[in-house]
Amino acid sequence: MSDHVIDFETPLKFAYWVPNVSGGLVVSTIEQRTNWEFDYNRTLARIAENAGFEYALTQTRYAASYGADKQHEATSFSLALLGATERLKVIAAVHPGMWHPGVLAKFIITADHLSGGRAAVNIVSGWLKDEFVNFGLEWLEHDERYVRTEEFINVLRGLWTEQGYSQSGKYYNINNFTLNPAPVSVEGRPHPEIFFGGNSTAAQAAAGRTADWYFSNGRDIEGFKANIAGVLAAAEEGRRAPAAPRFGLNGFVIARDTEKEAHETLREIVAKAHRPAVEGFAAAVKEAGQSTKDGKGMWEDSTFEDLVQYNDGFRTKLIGTPEQIAERIVEYKKIGVNLLLTCYLHFQEEVEAFGRDVLPIVRELEADLARKNGTELNTELLPVTNFDAVRELTGSNLAGAGA
Ligand SMILES: Cc1cc2nc3c(=O)[nH]c(=O)nc-3n(C[C@H](O)[C@H](O)[C@H](O)COP(=O)(O)O)c2cc1C
Repeated sequence: MSDHVIDFETPLKFAYWVPNVSGGLVVSTIEQRTNWEFDYNRTLARIAENAGFEYALTQTRYAASYGADKQHEATSFSLALLGATERLKVIAAVHPGMWHPGVLAKFIITADHLSGGRAAVNIVSGWLKDEFVNFGLEWLEHDERYVRTEEFINVLRGLWTEQGYSQSGKYYNINNFTLNPAPVSVEGRPHPEIFFGGNSTAAQAAAGRTADWYFSNGRDIEGFKANIAGVLAAAEEGRRAPAAPRFGLNGFVIARDTEKEAHETLREIVAKAHRPAVEGFAAAVKEAGQSTKDGKGMWEDSTFEDLVQYNDGFRTKLIGTPEQIAERIVEYKKIGVNLLLTCYLHFQEEVEAFGRDVLPIVRELEADLARKNGTELNTELLPVTNFDAVRELTGSNLAGAGA
């Protein structure tokens, strides 16, 4: 396998998890100043796009799990967020098996036109068996889900980029189909971006062959290096898409004035974990990577503490002072991470604080890193920020906020 070329010039991108399900992003009774309803989310999205975030990711969930007993549907919620923002790209999670890819392709084209080219999808192959079974849908065995996913992504890309597209396969048969209009033409983006979430061997292979972005649950540095290698090996063998996938990693952020305070917050989150909900979740996720022959995949070795943030977000260790978090983030850039997907206890206030206190340090460290590697950070690619707008939205008047 050829060496992975690290992109030191392009600034890291930042996303946040849209809290479109109830209960917050940790399964804990600790106070979480967040809300799953639209009003809160509209303001959050506007704060985020002005504080340096380029993407928001909605979850798809139809039935209660991990304490999220109320949920808003991902594609409609994403569309509303696109309508409420100007620059933010909103990634809607979708399950193959719940959608026909042609219907989704059409839906996303319309969303793309309504938003000036900002619609994206996260293809998730599913682990919550009850959602499928209780809808009367077929629950495919683990690796078979990725066979379908790969075909699904090929249909999406085909219908977004070609006229008279045909594809015949095990799950989908598309016959000489043209979707009009095509997606919005955006420089450097051949079609709406296709993100992909999954950690197992089959997931890495499917993502390597077809996805634009590979998303992972929280991982330590060595763990994510292994994922990147797996995805790139598959990309090298049988890539169907124009460019190799880029890499996004989930992390739960606890940025506090002192390291001690940040770690105390983590301890409190775990001490107040909602034990029955975490244990129920631990049982349900056995349908993920653990059910495969090699037993590898998402949540394969998650501890009770890990599962309190249901996407293993503590493992990325974005916990400490803003400086420590920024340093940690740049360590991930060194191994090939292009995007950090973040979540918080108190979304609006912490997204603002992250943009104000952590991102400027990240940018300085990235510029140093680029120079040490004989290049320059391309600052023209940095997202526009507007902290006056953020302050208006939050009503905060904290000192030190940049322009
Ligand atoms: C960033 C990210 C976001 C995900 N979002 C969802 C989601 O919204 N709904 C869902 O059912 N699964 C979601 N998943 C789960 C994956 O689709 C998949 O079921 C899980 O990663 C297990 O895959 P594995 O068995 O291949 O490791 C997400 C995964 C990742 C990494």
